[in-house]
Amino acid sequence: MTHLCINPSILSADFVNLEAELQRIASADAVHVDVMDNHFVPNLTLGLPVVRRIQQVSPIPLDVHLMIEDADRWAPQYAEAGAASVTFHAEASSAPVKLARELRDAGSKAAMALRPATPVEPYLDLLGELDMLLVMTVEPGFGGQAFLDLTLPKIRRAADAVRDANLPLVIQVDGGITEETILRAADAGATVFVAGSSVYGADDAAAAIAALRTAGTRGAGA
Ligand code: DX5
Ligand code: ZN
Repeated sequence: MTHLCINPSILSADFVNLEAELQRIASADAVHVDVMDNHFVPNLTLGLPVVRRIQQVSPIPLDVHLMIEDADRWAPQYAEAGAASVTFHAEASSAPVKLARELRDAGSKAAMALRPATPVEPYLDLLGELDMLLVMTVEPGFGGQAFLDLTLPKIRRAADAVRDANLPLVIQVDGGITEETILRAADAGATVFVAGSSVYGADDAAAAIAALRTAGTRGAGA
């Protein structure tokens, strides 16, 4: 049975009390850290100094999602900071193979993200260079948006390609993941689920994580 990962996004956490907010999700697989530069997306969050501190205090590994331009230049520093995985956007990298290799060399897993309108097909031959493919299920930039069902066929096509080529790569989804939408994303082939508002918006974050895990397992038919 494939292990499903639930990675809560601290975008919906209380940024003034991050250390306590990280403890609330200690039962999750990793903490999803959204780095935004106000250029690639119309929002600004945090950068390397804050990620370094989160790395020091987090009870679980870091899954860093870079929504920044010029990823080739900035992404390796997040791997060097100790992130377990670093995700750059395909739309923001001019040399994704080189970058993925640099991330792995720096000790992190290499992941690449696709905006909802970016097809997976041009990247199929690159999948062997990646540990994870992030199929965005909302337009990146903000938490709390509704899941886009139009991304499901892309998840399915990516999962088929991964299976056909017998690759170890996993598919992550990010945006609008709830106990309801996780069923469809898991059924399409995703195994790593980012959830911001549905975890941090809950009174009991650990219970929300457990509920997502149960629903995801049901969706995966496992
Ligand atoms: C959006 C971010 C997501 C965001 C998801 O651009 O990449 O990680 O936190 O939030 P929810 O789960 O609320 O859609
Ligand atoms: Zn994200």
